Order: sequence, then structure tokens, then C-alpha cells
Amino acid sequence: MSKASPHRPPHIIGIASGKGGVGKTTVAVNLAAALGQRGHKVLLLDADLGMANAQVALGVRTPWNISHLLSGEKTLSELLVPAAPGVQLVPGASGLRDMAALDMAQVATLIHAFDSLDEQVDYLLVDVAAGISPSVLTFMAACQRRLVVLQDQPASIADAYGLIKVMAQDQSLGEIYLVPNAARDDAHGQQLSNFVNDVTIRFLGTNVKSLGCVSTDEMVQQAQRKYRPVVDFAPGCRASADFRRLAQALEKLPPAEPGSAGLQFFMERLLQAQQSPA
Ligand SMILES: Nc1ncnc2c1ncn2[C@@H]1O[C@H](COP(=O)(O)OP(=O)(O)OP(=O)(O)O)[C@@H](O)[C@H]1O
Ligand SMILES: [Mg+2]
Repeated sequence: MSKASPHRPPHIIGIASGKGGVGKTTVAVNLAAALGQRGHKVLLLDADLGMANAQVALGVRTPWNISHLLSGEKTLSELLVPAAPGVQLVPGASGLRDMAALDMAQVATLIHAFDSLDEQVDYLLVDVAAGISPSVLTFMAACQRRLVVLQDQPASIADAYGLIKVMAQDQSLGEIYLVPNAARDDAHGQQLSNFVNDVTIRFLGTNVKSLGCVSTDEMVQQAQRKYRPVVDFAPGCRASADFRRLAQALEKLPPAEPGSAGLQFFMERLLQAQQSPA
């Protein structure tokens, strides 16, 4: 069972988009790195089982993932891969695909592993896959705060709205934040947020806040080719300033409701959702 942890519970933030290729991994990696630069301890959970995930973006090669934790071959600490100052990556990979089939002993192993991680974690960022599959929704439901990355394209806007609508069915919209990506400038990003807001007010009866936008910037792709976060590769560029601003916006959000935070809470919700019949 859980021991009393001397650490503050981390903020747990899921990053989704509906449509693929609009910048989830870019936002996850750079927000993690920007928070790391600001002195926070960050875990980045790669929950995207496809190819364009955080592990690939950071050029991390590791033979170990969560399945080795479950089989008892590795501890959680042994799985963690340093990714940037203050940031460690948790390789999800195939281990998470099999989560629905975990038995109770494995569930207990996983919860205990996250609960007894012997270091302070301030933020856990979860980079999920594209789409609105049950696995994506399960990860998002287990997070305390949810970021929806979108671009000013009809397909991205439609999918972001679709994702928000499904999440709104069983989750409060209060903790969903838009992150307009690849914006021409702040006004363009704000315009996109306002548009989605108008639609959610009209059809879902409530508004969705914006955390702040990220400009389109060719340095993002140059950094990616070097397998580095842009905030580290080109700290002076426009997108890096935007990511630091996003990190500050996250810091300013009020603390989690008591009882809704913590790694153990995240794992428990994740596993409960995976195990209950749809
Ligand atoms: N603000 C930006 N400026 C320029 N290029 C960007 C920006 N954001 C993302 N990109 C580029 O767009 C591409 C897709 O980004 P990314 O891999 O982060 O999307 P994704 O949503 O994680 O995709 P997937 O759904 O495949 O996981 C990458 O080549 C990335 O470098
Ligand atoms: Mg991705």
C-alpha cells in the first residue's frame, strides 16, 4: 500500500489534439523542457504508441519500457531516460498497449512503482496518440488537466472540437485548455481560440480556456532534426519564447483539488478505466 510520501503531488497534464500531426509531441517535449529550465522536475510519459512520439522526437533509444516494469525486470527509476535538464522520459511503448490485459498483481506493481518513486516530480506530462480512441480518452480522463493542441485548419478545428465534446461527456470542461499551434502571431492564435470557444459555448454550454499559443517557427523543425527541444536548441527564437510563456501559464494555474492529484491517483484512474467494461 502507499506509504506517506514526503513529496508534493505532481501536476498531471495530458496533451491531445484529435487530428494527428498538429504538434502534440512538439508541445509536450518543449513544455517539459521549458518547465525543466525553470527548475521543475518533469516526467514525460510517452503514451503515443505510434511512430511520431516523444521518444523518437528526443532521439532516445532504450530497450526498456513499462512492460519490463510489469515483468519485474526493471524498476521505474531504471526505466527513466534523461531527456533534457530536469526532464526524464518514461518509455510507454508496448507495455501500455497491453494495459487492458493486466492482472491485479501487475496493477499493484504499477501503482506501487509510481507511488514509491523516490524523487520529487513536479509535473507529469502525457503525450497521447492522435485520434479519440478509448486509450486516448482513458489517458486524458486520468489526467488532472488536459491540453488540446490545434491548428487553424478545418480538420484540426473539427477534431479538436470532437475531442472536447467527448471529454465533456464525463469530465468537467474546466480543466481543458486550448493550445493553438503554428499560429502566425498571438492575434491569430487568440482568434482561433475565440472561434472554438464560440462553438463550445453554443453547443456545449460552456467555454474552454486558452493556455496560450505557439507561433509557427522553422527553428522547431531544425531542432527536431537534431532530436532536441527547440527551447534548448534555439532559446532565442519565437517558438521558444512561446513555450516558456506556456510553462509560466501552467505554473500560474491553481493547485490541484485535494484528492485529484498525484502519480498514484493517475495510475489508479488509468487502470480503473482500462479494467472496467466500456
Ligand atoms: N510551431 C511549429 N512551427 C513549425 N513546425 C512545427 C510547429 N509545431 C510542430 N511543427 C512540426 O510539425 C510536425 C508535426 O508535429 P508533431 O510531431 O509535434 O505533431 P503530433 O501532433 O505529435 O503528431 P502525431 O499525431 O503524429 O503524434 C513536426 O515536423 C514538427 O516539427
Ligand atoms: Mg506525436
